[in-house]
Amino acid sequence: MKRIASGMRPTGKLHLGNYFGALKNWIELQDEYECFYFIADYHALTTKFEASKEIRNNIYEMALDWFSMGLDYNRSPIYLQSSMIEIPILHLIFSMIVPMPWLERNPTVKEMIRDLDLKENVGYGLLGYPVLQSADILIVKGEYVPVGKDQLPHLEFARELARRFNYIYGEYFPEPEPIFTETPIIYGTDGKKMSKSLNNQINLSDSKEIMIEKISQMVTDPSKIRKNDPGHPDICSVFTYYGYFDKKNEENVKKECQNGERGCVQCKKEIALKIYNMFEDYREKKTELEKDKDTIWDILREGNKKAEKFTKETIEEVKKLMGLNYK
Ligand code: TRP
Ligand code: SF4
Repeated sequence: MKRIASGMRPTGKLHLGNYFGALKNWIELQDEYECFYFIADYHALTTKFEASKEIRNNIYEMALDWFSMGLDYNRSPIYLQSSMIEIPILHLIFSMIVPMPWLERNPTVKEMIRDLDLKENVGYGLLGYPVLQSADILIVKGEYVPVGKDQLPHLEFARELARRFNYIYGEYFPEPEPIFTETPIIYGTDGKKMSKSLNNQINLSDSKEIMIEKISQMVTDPSKIRKNDPGHPDICSVFTYYGYFDKKNEENVKKECQNGERGCVQCKKEIALKIYNMFEDYREKKTELEKDKDTIWDILREGNKKAEKFTKETIEEVKKLMGLNYK
């Protein structure tokens, strides 16, 4: 089996966009690849170092959602970046061979600096973001990385870095390639792309009442005021949910909306319930995992131990290639 490595920054509770944009693929890829999935908690520090105390809870909530949703920790190691001491070692070694211009020109880092308005406050760690990400992938010799388009520059960086290392010290690392999977854009309750930073998210763990409440406040086709007004589903973000969560009713809803046979209030309530019901198994597993607070940390500890076999080997081999294996 080919090997995948991928991480997610700990952002806490997952929303529908996180699920359809990444987690769903991660779960499916476990069937075909040997997967190394981890929580990139050091990466969270690159932009939010002052909020370091929030990371712990965000790790817990995210891992809880991963495992409740069916990410299988028995099949392959699922671990915590900061528990793997070999990752920062590889990061340090890489930092010696990375030319500064590679860091300064990285468009994803530039975007982060602009979006977060950091300018003079750009830390050494943030500039080194792609170096750390390369270490994450290469420490387990990841060959494929499922990522979104925004992460492509980081991946290109990892490939160049692997090539540079191999050129200097001898063929060793694979050049990791991206895996693109169909990831729909899920709109948030304000009609913009769902994202925690916009506070427009619907969480997997939202209660039935909250889901109904959030969806009922969404803006639909503004020209549809009464039930029998003809509507335009193509400009309604509630309608996009039918495409993702209730495909078989999509056509019917479209017709009824256009013909003025369907009211928005009912339309919203129906899809809210559909979405809620989709996560029945998730809630059951979650209740079980939540019984004991230690369960999640135990699973991660187990994953760390499994991953360690690979990360230790890599560092040993890297040091040997570099002639640093004194003893
Ligand atoms: N940078 C990624 C993100 O923001 C998270 C990440 C960290 C990652 N290390 C990685 C993704 C290694 C893939 C591989 O989403
Ligand atoms: Fe949107 Fe449904 Fe209202 Fe049509 S009836 S505008 S699809 S919410």
